[in-house]
Amino acid sequence: MAPLAGEVSVPGDKSISHRALMFGALAVGVTRISGLLEGEDVLRTAAAMRALGAEILREGADWLVAGRGLGGLTAPEDVLDMGNSGTAARLLAGILASHDFFSVMTGDASLRRRPMRRVIEPLRACGAVFSARPGERLPMSIQGARDALPLTYRLPVASAQVKSALLLAGLNARGVTVVEEPEATRDHSENMLRHFGAAVTVERQGSGRLIRLVGQPELRGADVAVPGDPSSAAFPVVAALLVPGSRVVVNGVGLNPLRTGLFETLREMGATLTVRDARTQGGESVGDLVAEFSELIAVDVPPARAPSMIDEYPILAVACSLARGVSRLRGLAELRVKESDRLAATAAMLRAGGVHVEIEDDDLIIHGGRPAGGGLVMTQMDHRLAMSALVFGLATDDKMRIDDARFIDTSFPGFVTLMRRLGADFAAP
Ligand code: S3P
Repeated sequence: MAPLAGEVSVPGDKSISHRALMFGALAVGVTRISGLLEGEDVLRTAAAMRALGAEILREGADWLVAGRGLGGLTAPEDVLDMGNSGTAARLLAGILASHDFFSVMTGDASLRRRPMRRVIEPLRACGAVFSARPGERLPMSIQGARDALPLTYRLPVASAQVKSALLLAGLNARGVTVVEEPEATRDHSENMLRHFGAAVTVERQGSGRLIRLVGQPELRGADVAVPGDPSSAAFPVVAALLVPGSRVVVNGVGLNPLRTGLFETLREMGATLTVRDARTQGGESVGDLVAEFSELIAVDVPPARAPSMIDEYPILAVACSLARGVSRLRGLAELRVKESDRLAATAAMLRAGGVHVEIEDDDLIIHGGRPAGGGLVMTQMDHRLAMSALVFGLATDDKMRIDDARFIDTSFPGFVTLMRRLGADFAAP
């Protein structure tokens, strides 16, 4: 494979894009969003917020949201279909829990398999009535509370989605909502709430945090500049590290320290990966990532790092497959409930390419070397698996094949074009 070379920008951060649309819809006045991710997942959020009464339109490259003000959303006339997006579904559940109307939410086959109990259970305490399929799966109906009570909750699993759902419910409750997280997770909701004028305090507690939100603030529309998604930048970055002779620059990547576990891990593996022009943009750290081909060595990733790189394990596993030695990625229980069972699916992807992989409890053990590649990967409606398999194939003698590329658009529209511009020889069947 010829070296990859060039300078690119990846689409906007998915987490921040969902939140900008939701907070914009809950605020008074206009929110202008630049760099919004126009992927399927985020477009589902836009459609849902429109169905709840917000006005959302595209103006040039920006998106404008005319908010309804807290408590001002109205009952949707039809079922809210959140597609493939767990973030959209769980965050929206928080909003709906504290709005006094009835709604029904569903999603695609992947989302309908994913657990909703983690949000339903704590949100019931604010007075909302949820009714879901057995196992607390979508579709579910929600009757929001008339006068929502503030919530106090300690998260049993490290999940930014659950934390954000509770904060969104707490926005429309009188009193202080308190969320305790055992491990710090991405804090985009906290940052953006402050940016929109809410009073949020965060207290560190060891490796966890205690977050307090004063309910019923005056949320005011604000400008949001969405940085490039580090979870998307991960693919061209790892591709550059793996293909001999490569040098790739990804401009304007969000580098919030609660998102950069992958980059830290790659450096531990010996990656030549640097940040150029580190800066702050709308309260978030941003920089340009420069990645050069590197001889990687195996790594042992502690479970505590998982929240800061939860979406990056499939692509890290690809890097480990081509590193010297045996890697151990620990504490990956949460991967079992992503867009696919990502622990099993990542192992299957690597095995299809000839890698010796083991799963021991919640750990993934990867015997690195020079795998032959050449296998077919069943992507199971999982965008990150599809992109990881394609990057894997760039570094093996025989190309990897995937059964379905459609889901890539949920988070990274233009992935194939961008990678081809860098020199990747992806072939369509
Ligand atoms: C997200 C949180 C993570 C992550 C997802 C986006 C968010 O999920 O996997 O892609 O925007 O809050 P969990 O909260 O389930 O870990």
